[in-house]
Amino acid sequence: MAHDIPTTGIRLLGISGSIRRDSHCTAVLRSLQPLLPASATIELFALDDVPLYNADLDGDAPPAAVVRLKSAIAQADGLVLCSPEYNYGMPGVLKNAIDWASRPGFASPLKGKPALIITASPGSAGGVRAQAQIRDALAATLARPVVRQHVAIANVNARLRDGRLADEATLDFVHAALADLLEDIALLGKAAFGPAGRS
Ligand SMILES: Cc1cc2nc3c(=O)[nH]c(=O)nc-3n(C[C@H](O)[C@H](O)[C@H](O)COP(=O)(O)O)c2cc1C
Repeated sequence: MAHDIPTTGIRLLGISGSIRRDSHCTAVLRSLQPLLPASATIELFALDDVPLYNADLDGDAPPAAVVRLKSAIAQADGLVLCSPEYNYGMPGVLKNAIDWASRPGFASPLKGKPALIITASPGSAGGVRAQAQIRDALAATLARPVVRQHVAIANVNARLRDGRLADEATLDFVHAALADLLEDIALLGKAAFGPAGRS
């Protein structure tokens, strides 16, 4: 299927489910810019400073890191989440960030946002058991997880070199997934400006 890549400036936001300094998942996200067309850029948002969700803090003056997170999501055309699997599920760091970003419920910056889910692990399952949880949580926020084959990178440590993905087959697969994300962004843009409704 030919991918309809948008030609104007597309901004993607990468969010790693790991705040570890030498995180494999963050390394995967750092590998994505060269896989994108010239029309698209990706920036990373680190979750280090996002506090634990507390509705008492989620009022008129939420924590600064939360304001930055929600603003970065709002300004992005699409998200790329890359996460490890912790005990067969999504790490608390990522769930916590989704929870903060999901407010106000059903009207948050996540609503309608196309989101590509990637998991990665040194293990042989590539973190795939966390994918359904991540997809479900995003669906609860009315985000739009990209519907495609799962991108689960097994043995990720062996596929990285100098902090970047260096395995050709993995790069090809991730490239195709990014193309699917860009296609969803393009389709949504067309839908927003598509045929007028009935007069
Ligand atoms: C609390 C905890 C639970 C983990 N559970 C799993 C697991 O269920 N499946 C898996 O493949 N790896 C598991 N791991 C190993 C992680 O995949 C590994 O630490 C990975 O490198 C973390 O991602 P990062 O490199 O991006 O920080 C776990 C690690 C921790 C710390």
